[in-house]
Amino acid sequence: MIFNVLTVFRELIKPSTKYGILSKAIKNKKIKINIFSYSDYLNDNERIDDKQFGGDPGMIIKDEVASKALRSIKKLNPETKTIFLTPKGRRLNNNLAKELSRYKNISIICGRYEGFDERTIDKHADMEISIGDFIVSGGETPAVILMDSISRMINGVVGNEESVTNDSLNNSLLKHPVYTRPASVKGKKVPKLLVSGNHKKIREFKRKKSLIETVKKREDLLEYANINSQEREMLMKIKAKTIKSSCYVALVHYPIENIKGEIIKTSLTNLDIQDIARTCQTYGIKKYFITHPVKEQRELAKNVLDYWEKGTNIRNHSTKHAALENIEIKNSIQTAIKSIKDIHGKKPKIVATDARIMHNMVNYSDIKRKLDTDDNPYLFLFGTGWGLTNEVLDNSDYILKPVGSYYEYNHLSVRSAVAIILDRIFGCKF
Ligand SMILES: C[S@@+](CC[C@H](N)C(=O)[O-])C[C@H]1O[C@@H](n2cnc3c(N)ncnc32)[C@H](O)[C@@H]1O
Repeated sequence: MIFNVLTVFRELIKPSTKYGILSKAIKNKKIKINIFSYSDYLNDNERIDDKQFGGDPGMIIKDEVASKALRSIKKLNPETKTIFLTPKGRRLNNNLAKELSRYKNISIICGRYEGFDERTIDKHADMEISIGDFIVSGGETPAVILMDSISRMINGVVGNEESVTNDSLNNSLLKHPVYTRPASVKGKKVPKLLVSGNHKKIREFKRKKSLIETVKKREDLLEYANINSQEREMLMKIKAKTIKSSCYVALVHYPIENIKGEIIKTSLTNLDIQDIARTCQTYGIKKYFITHPVKEQRELAKNVLDYWEKGTNIRNHSTKHAALENIEIKNSIQTAIKSIKDIHGKKPKIVATDARIMHNMVNYSDIKRKLDTDDNPYLFLFGTGWGLTNEVLDNSDYILKPVGSYYEYNHLSVRSAVAIILDRIFGCKF
């Protein structure tokens, strides 16, 4: 593999080629690194950079200089794949490094100052790569990182190939914890199995630890990991233990807005009773409150529940049915809040939901983080009709961003909204 690196500061690249894996790979002729400097393509008294149009501070690498250098690199390496390092690029990960290791010739273009003139990228880039969601002052460190990660994937660069296949992030899993001698450090011992000599057991132990490490530290990776059904079950159990068991849902029929913005009571919908109860049960919600101020409507809800729970209908008794046991019928949001306070000794944080966009809404990761980090119970409010009133929204601690698509039409039934929202917050992604 030939790497061509175009840089403002060649001296920043050179040291990394003298040590470790890169240096060994160069010595073993697995890779070759050619360093090109922008300054070699300048006319007399010309600068590499110039001021930006539009008045923002910071200098930009001139297209004329970069293009001259790039044309020259391309002439010497006609088959090269040209990669610009920019924070806007595709995020580098192990899979991308592996993909790139299949090329024979890669040109890595380092930016500096405020980066490249967009026209240079348009003309010459086969790909833009970012090494992560942060800014460093120039492309030289990212270039070394990119070359190192690609080189590791080239056959014979890393002495023991198993080291590469066992690396974290291979098969989208983190590596199991590793230890070296002594077997005991201040009383902390190496796991017994690792010194047992039983290779099959050691392999199983490492796999299990790797799965546990991933679910605890980088659950997002598991979406792409190759795991079997037993492993998935184990991970789900681990995860279920960590999920907050003090979240509640209330379906609100008053106060509700109608299409004209008037405050009304809505009628109970039979489907909302069973369907939302089943969704709540699926996502570990502790109780599902149906709130209605009208006695007859509460009795109707109770009759529906009795229908499913008593007499001949009981033949349908199944785990599906268990969801109904977590329903409580209340006359208002306040009585639901009081009921939670009686259980937990404190008022719940109120999370309202709405189909409209408002300025003070929170996103799903924020709510997930709050659930993980504070010990308050949480009550999620779902409106009927045209939604919860402004007063209810104003009195909530948080209003969640609406769920939906990119289209103007957004009239999800409350049952669907409950399912989508609970899945975003509590859903298993692996
Ligand atoms: C100070 S940065 C310019 C950042 C630019 N103002 C922006 O917001 O996109 C200078 C150069 O460092 C390199 N660089 C900085 N952060 C990077 C990252 N996360 N991934 C890849 N290259 C990066 C790029 O080559 C970039 O052109």
